[in-house]
Amino acid sequence: MLMADMGREMVVADRCTVWLADHQRNELWTKVAHGVDELRIPMGDGLVGYAVARNEAVFIDDAYTNEEYRAVLERGALVTDRRTGYRTKALMVIPFSNSEGEVVGCYQAVNKMTGDGVFTERDLEYLTLAATYSGKSLESALLLREIEETQKEILFVMGEIGESRSKETGNHVKRVAEYSYILAKGAGMSEEEAEVLKMASPMHDIGKVAIPDAVLKKPGQLTDEEYRIMQSHTVIGYNLLKNSKRRILKAAAIVAHEHHEKWDGTGYPRGLAGEDIHIYGRITAVADVFDALASDRVYKKAWDLERIIDLFRRERGRHFDPRLVDVFLEHLPAFLDIRDRFADEKLGA
Ligand code: C2E
Ligand code: SIN
Ligand code: SIN
Ligand code: SIN
Ligand code: FE
Ligand code: FE
Repeated sequence: MLMADMGREMVVADRCTVWLADHQRNELWTKVAHGVDELRIPMGDGLVGYAVARNEAVFIDDAYTNEEYRAVLERGALVTDRRTGYRTKALMVIPFSNSEGEVVGCYQAVNKMTGDGVFTERDLEYLTLAATYSGKSLESALLLREIEETQKEILFVMGEIGESRSKETGNHVKRVAEYSYILAKGAGMSEEEAEVLKMASPMHDIGKVAIPDAVLKKPGQLTDEEYRIMQSHTVIGYNLLKNSKRRILKAAAIVAHEHHEKWDGTGYPRGLAGEDIHIYGRITAVADVFDALASDRVYKKAWDLERIIDLFRRERGRHFDPRLVDVFLEHLPAFLDIRDRFADEKLGA
């Protein structure tokens, strides 16, 4: 771990460990250096637990003669030494806090490797300085991850808003995301690009937020006028998203705009044909129609598989990019697996 290496080099310790507080589980944990295993101890345990609980730096020259922390050492470091044969001498534990003053972890340095083998006042200052930065950079790293996770959820929720208005459950957007990813990879897209599309495709129907219930939830066939209104969900979605500079939202704008275009130019809203339709739109078209046909809708029952495959064969090169139909048929088992894993509860009659 970078932070631990930094600490070890600054104070020339034999070992340096960064412990992080997991307040939910009331534990301290660390990634064992270069290993994959996580080490976890109860929050109050040992010298690190003591230091974190009191938000107090601990500084020991020799664990075997120290009196101040005798009791804690007897239960911790000295027991471990007896088991491992290691000889703990000098010890230093420096807690670090986030910007709200909450302790989020600590540095633990063991055994000074130079001089007379004890940590100096200077070492304490160095490690305290490192701890100050760690608390902040750790916090921003955690915050960044939080923001990324939040963004993903917002994308799903926004997609679901569009869909839930038309009585489809959130699983529709999740399935479309998964199908789109398979198609993207099958069409030769990079992992990163496929991930972008996977996050953007759930937004394809976001424009349905602006479609009146009377149209969206109509149990039967739409009139021409109603269908014209319904078709506007593509342009509405595009207009909602088109001004974003963010990569995923830009992809989502294209998907919203172009997922009802058809390969032969008979789709809407613009009647684009062939590769003039963005690959994102062509992929989401296959994913969306497969899911629409494989699910119950307010206006129709789910089709059986044979009938669905038959439609895709017939529409190869008409509605759909022929290459993508081939990818779809090739990966059919994966599609069915997703359909079953993200299955909806049955619509009430
Ligand atoms: P959706 O339900 O998500 O359907 C997406 C697309 O799947 C449809 O785009 C269509 O290409 C295909 N699809 C769905 N069901 C069928 C079907 O029974 N037969 C065939 N051949 N294709 C099907 P489309 O047609 O542009 O419709 C866009 C959206 O308009 C639909 O999204 C749905 O929300 C709404 N919609 C379409 N037709 C009706 C209808 O008859 N009644 C109602 N209430 N809504 C409709
Ligand atoms: C869908 O598959 O999206 C509609 C079925 C449901 O809402 O349960
Ligand atoms: C759009 O006009 O839909 C955005 C750009 C594109 O389609 O490729
Ligand atoms: C539709 O667009 O209505 C379904 C696919 C097709 O039959 O072209
Ligand atoms: Fe749509
Ligand atoms: Fe859809």
